Amino acid sequence: TGAFTYDPGFTSTASCESKITYIDGDAGILLHRGYPIDQLAEKSSFMEVSYLLMNGELPNKAELDNFTYTINRHTMVHEQLATFYRGFRRDAHPMAVMTGVVGALSAFYHDSTDISDPDQRRIASHRLIAKMPTLAAMAYKYTIGQPFLYPDNNLSYAGNFLRMTFGVPAEEYQVDPIIESAMDKIFILHADHEQNASTSTVRLAGSSGANPFACIAAGIACLWGPAHGGANEAALNMLREIGTPDRIPEYIARAKNKDDPFRLMGFGHRVYKNFDPRAQVLSKAATEVLDKLGISDPVLDTARELEQIALKDQYFIDKKLYPNVDFYSGVILSAIGFPTSMFTVLFALARTAGWIAQWNEMITDPDQKIGRPRQLYTGATQRDYVSVESR
Ligand code: CMC
Repeated sequence: TGAFTYDPGFTSTASCESKITYIDGDAGILLHRGYPIDQLAEKSSFMEVSYLLMNGELPNKAELDNFTYTINRHTMVHEQLATFYRGFRRDAHPMAVMTGVVGALSAFYHDSTDISDPDQRRIASHRLIAKMPTLAAMAYKYTIGQPFLYPDNNLSYAGNFLRMTFGVPAEEYQVDPIIESAMDKIFILHADHEQNASTSTVRLAGSSGANPFACIAAGIACLWGPAHGGANEAALNMLREIGTPDRIPEYIARAKNKDDPFRLMGFGHRVYKNFDPRAQVLSKAATEVLDKLGISDPVLDTARELEQIALKDQYFIDKKLYPNVDFYSGVILSAIGFPTSMFTVLFALARTAGWIAQWNEMITDPDQKIGRPRQLYTGATQRDYVSVESR
């Protein structure tokens, strides 16, 4: 059994070759198809970034218009899906609902589940990117007991999502351009992050030939955990629990205490041993958005103070723990009006673009094989069965 390399958590195993995303964790660099994340967040749009991740190049104007038109055409979901939602308890966590409804898409769209057909793969990819905002907004509406809103394809991807989430049929919803642009930026910053746990899950599920809807549902399930996408929800809950800057030292002490399982949520990363470049963009955006919206949230002050104290603390310096993408995103999302239970749903919505790009890359890779890790067996050696009377 000693023939395999033991690498729990895959800290040093490359599971694939990829041309999509590059990370230099020591330098704090993140590139999508070669483009730095801060430039994309400042200058691009989520539609453009989705196209870039999938196709390898930024689209020209005609390509972007065509892609946006295609995504818009697929924003509606099968009417029967509304019934599917109604089977859930009203107090269900929206991530529980999302794993269910996205998994169910393969039952609604079986005309795009044949993965050997490039056309079906393309349609399924477009459907997933297009329908995620509709499904996510429906998950929210369901929990608060408001009617589902149909998409309005005259709006942008982010604008449409905001309207479906916060609009009501009785009133016209005006998309606030500040919120729309902040939302789009958050989507860009979450779009892809190479072989993280959920993306690896999507690839592993896909390696068996499972259809893309099922694979993305697997990714959503993995993303939900508090060590991964669930950290944005956990980070904001933690900041609210801390409440005021004077209580920070108590939490820092807990995070450093080996006997206390508590960790500073939104801090630390498997790959970044320096600033997470996404956190830097979000930190700036948090101030901008709150200023523009005229909101003063003590949670942002607590976050800033916590960051300053942690960055000067020897424990965090030695372990190279810096704020990650989940540290500031919650502050912005809560300023926009999302409850914490929706934070990871938004992460899943945006990450769908990356999952789909990675899934397509894997399916078309000539070296692609079913993912099948080995193990080091440490259990009992062979022994004879003993009947229950003799045990
Ligand atoms: N607070 C306190 N100590 C920490 C933290 C933290 N947030 N993160 C890591 N450490 C310590 C940890 O106790 C360990 O100490 P020691 O070497 O003495 O045992 C050391 O730093 C290394 O941690 P690890 O758990 O072995 O590192 P990992 O690469 O397996 O874990 C992580 C990375 C992100 C899961 C971890 O840093 C963590 O749990 N952070 C909090 C949750 C979080 O913010 N997750 C979001 C990740 S970013 C994007 C996303 O996926 O959403």
